[in-house]
Amino acid sequence: MEATHCHIVVLISGNGSNLQALIDSSLASNFKIAAVISNRPNAFGLQRAERDNIPTRVIDHTSFDSRDAFDSALGDAIEEFNPELIVLAGFMRILGSEFVNRFEGRVLNIHPSLLPKYPGINTHQRALDAGDEEHGVSVHFVTADLDGGPVIAQERVPVLKDDTAEMLAARVLEKEHLVYPKVVSWYASGRLEMQEGNAVLDHEVLPPTGVIIHP
Ligand code: GAR
Repeated sequence: MEATHCHIVVLISGNGSNLQALIDSSLASNFKIAAVISNRPNAFGLQRAERDNIPTRVIDHTSFDSRDAFDSALGDAIEEFNPELIVLAGFMRILGSEFVNRFEGRVLNIHPSLLPKYPGINTHQRALDAGDEEHGVSVHFVTADLDGGPVIAQERVPVLKDDTAEMLAARVLEKEHLVYPKVVSWYASGRLEMQEGNAVLDHEVLPPTGVIIHP
């Protein structure tokens, strides 16, 4: 592996389309995917990684008695690869404070809403139910506060008349695939860090929305 590349470990639970976007852009970027770890043995994203000869691991949460035991095994599996950054890409487990402290400032998540709106699940339906005119995606640092860590970037997506949750999700996902590799490359080049609970880009503390990415 190239010494100049930032090594990342990507955590997934499912389809892995964000993982695919990261794989594709890593070819011409400053980060390298050292491993992909899934908490679900059948996650399709594992096949995407294997297709590209990226090492994979499964840490199946159902074989652990407690959240802490799972988090600790997951942390150990991550450390095997000695990554500089951990990238959650559709990873659908809540990580406890011990895990978050262990990797403080080195974990990113992508979430399909304009945080702080709609943490948790069913974000697209919730935006439709609320009659929102716009929806979107946020990338943020992970803290012990679920989907509540400092936002690094957001991209907005207009809600269209007659949108279903599936239609809206598909348009948000297209934006996710562009924004996530961009943010990971900011981190990889040393431009982005978490300082005292803030997201800092190019030495500037970012506002609560993070950087607003325009199409
Ligand atoms: C993405 O929309 C991602 O933002 C979301 O799950 C989907 C995974 O798709 N993540 C969350 O909801 C995390 N709270 P993918 O597996 O095709 O990348």
